[in-house]
Amino acid sequence: MTDQTITSVSRESRIFKPSAEFKNQANLGSFESYRRLYSESVNAPDKFWDKQAKKFLSWRKPFSSVLKWKAPHAKWFSGGQLNVAENCVDRHLGTARANKAAIIFEGEPGDTRTITYKQLHREVCQFAHVLESLGLKKGDRAAIYMPMIPEAAVAMLACARIGAIHTVIFGGFSSEAIKDRVNDCQAKLIITADGGWRRGKVIELKSNVDRAITGTPTVQSVVVFKRTGSPVTMTPGRDLWWHDLVAGASTTHKAKAFESETPLFILYTSGSTGKPKGVLHTSAGYLLGTAITSHYVFDLKETDVYWCTADIGWITGHSYVVYGPLSNGATVLMYEGAPNQPEPDRFWQIIDKHSVSIFYTAPTAIRAFMRWGDEYVKKHSLASLRLLGSVGEPINPEAWMWYHNLIGKKRCPIVDTWWQTETGAIMVTPIPGVTPTKPGSCTLPFFGVVPKVLDEHGNEVPKNAGGKLFLTQPWPSMLRTLWNDDDRFKKQYWNEIPGLYFCGDGARKDKDGYLWVVGRIDDVLNVSGHRIGTAEIESALVSHPAVAEAAAVGRPDELKGQSLVVFVTLKGTHTASEELKEALRAHVGKEIGSLAKPDQVRFAAGLPKTRSGKIMRRLLKELATSGEIKGDTSTLEDFAVISALKQDEE
Ligand code: WTA
Repeated sequence: MTDQTITSVSRESRIFKPSAEFKNQANLGSFESYRRLYSESVNAPDKFWDKQAKKFLSWRKPFSSVLKWKAPHAKWFSGGQLNVAENCVDRHLGTARANKAAIIFEGEPGDTRTITYKQLHREVCQFAHVLESLGLKKGDRAAIYMPMIPEAAVAMLACARIGAIHTVIFGGFSSEAIKDRVNDCQAKLIITADGGWRRGKVIELKSNVDRAITGTPTVQSVVVFKRTGSPVTMTPGRDLWWHDLVAGASTTHKAKAFESETPLFILYTSGSTGKPKGVLHTSAGYLLGTAITSHYVFDLKETDVYWCTADIGWITGHSYVVYGPLSNGATVLMYEGAPNQPEPDRFWQIIDKHSVSIFYTAPTAIRAFMRWGDEYVKKHSLASLRLLGSVGEPINPEAWMWYHNLIGKKRCPIVDTWWQTETGAIMVTPIPGVTPTKPGSCTLPFFGVVPKVLDEHGNEVPKNAGGKLFLTQPWPSMLRTLWNDDDRFKKQYWNEIPGLYFCGDGARKDKDGYLWVVGRIDDVLNVSGHRIGTAEIESALVSHPAVAEAAAVGRPDELKGQSLVVFVTLKGTHTASEELKEALRAHVGKEIGSLAKPDQVRFAAGLPKTRSGKIMRRLLKELATSGEIKGDTSTLEDFAVISALKQDEE
């Protein structure tokens, strides 16, 4: 195909200006300051990042250069030395934050714990000693496979403290996934728990590790935190209880300083094909990216209780549960379990219970709340909230408005933050109190970020036309490479237009320069010669009152090139019928135009999603095309969804 441009069909035109009340207290506060700082950040990046690195980080040894850039390899803050854990914990101790809550923990069964910065420091120090006593050294890899409990953060920070590289494996992954990741990075150690609570049941983490470990020759020890008290098998000489190890460990630990580019972690992210990619992030640049975005995008104040619902197994959990907020000395809420345990109002109950003021979640969760019904929200006050965030997928305007009205009570700004595992930190986002927002748009670039929507020749497409989204300048928290696979790193991200970072998403810029992500380029649909992003068709469907969620895919069609098949789940009170199918086709026709009317509407009980909540359109496309799913399903969240989908068809 030669024409790679994308036809954009969205007609969203609502706009929400920041309130004077929010603006007056905001960390940034005026559009002029945003413009000035942004322009400095892209026109004189060395000067800008020099200043920010000194403002947001504590250095043991000052850096001598800001950036050495030889595309696609970056070295940020060369010559400088710091310790990431010291930046997240120790440096708050000499301040009024010492006895402030660093982590407020809520377990799924309702148990809570508050850990102050002083206490967090003691725990990180003790665990750093434990890691050293187990022979973990600078540059060694440790896998962390834990529930959402404070010890997961302690384990990450303790690795950082001694210069070891952590790789967190999401607690919902199977033993196969553990094995692949541990072997790819040759981890010496696995840190896990007996189990974690999820929907009232114990997820048996330790037994998954046991199954994996028969095929992981590099692992020497397994540290097990006791969370649920469920029975586990401990292999003598290899498996050790966390509480036994820390019992004798000193509560102070002298942290070494490490070079800026010291690897901090590897995080595996699934590619559309083949084995997962081990995205490598390093110390100073990554920490700066997460620290500065946490400050401006979440407008953090000493009095905030900040809650990001992401699991620490994802980049959002790394950057916005652990490194970003803690380096800012914030109070972070951590919740272990499911949003509907025991009832679908658990999140709202937690917000009231702990007076959460900043809430950051994903569109997939928001759509689930919408489906469960407004009554669960209305039972709670939510008066403590002042700012809302969204991440992970394009948020469809319908879900944005629901979030704004029901959760934010029309009072809280919404930051729709676009970024990726690879970018390390938020790249495109409104700044609350500053940027007028439009439902469904992640708006404008953060400092130092230069997003461009380009055609296949590298030319910028006209306003409102769709194209591929590139980042054209290096940024501090960018991935440095893929672990053990620099060739794949170059091919995957830097080959589309040599020297520019291609993120894999399609997008358009509107007349105000606002970005609208229209979906993954691999998912773009070709309908009657128009290339249309999945997000726009799905948004149109979700704006129908009966629809909870929708996924649009293309099926090869001799006549049209591709015919459009949509999978739809319905809200509680609605039932599937031929009339509703027709009504939905008509609705899309009205919202977008007849070119986008689906050829087939299929009702489903659930859509296949990755464990981080992204719809797996690839599987639906296979199903729509061949009636079968043979492709890789290892990242699928719920296998029952697939058999239900097949039955629906029969
Ligand atoms: C998608 C999550 C639209 C996008 C931090 C990106 C989004 C991929 C947004 C990265 C958003 C994330 N609007 N799309 N606000 N946020 N995405 O690596 O396709 O899990 O490329 O990182 O999610 O997913 P990842």
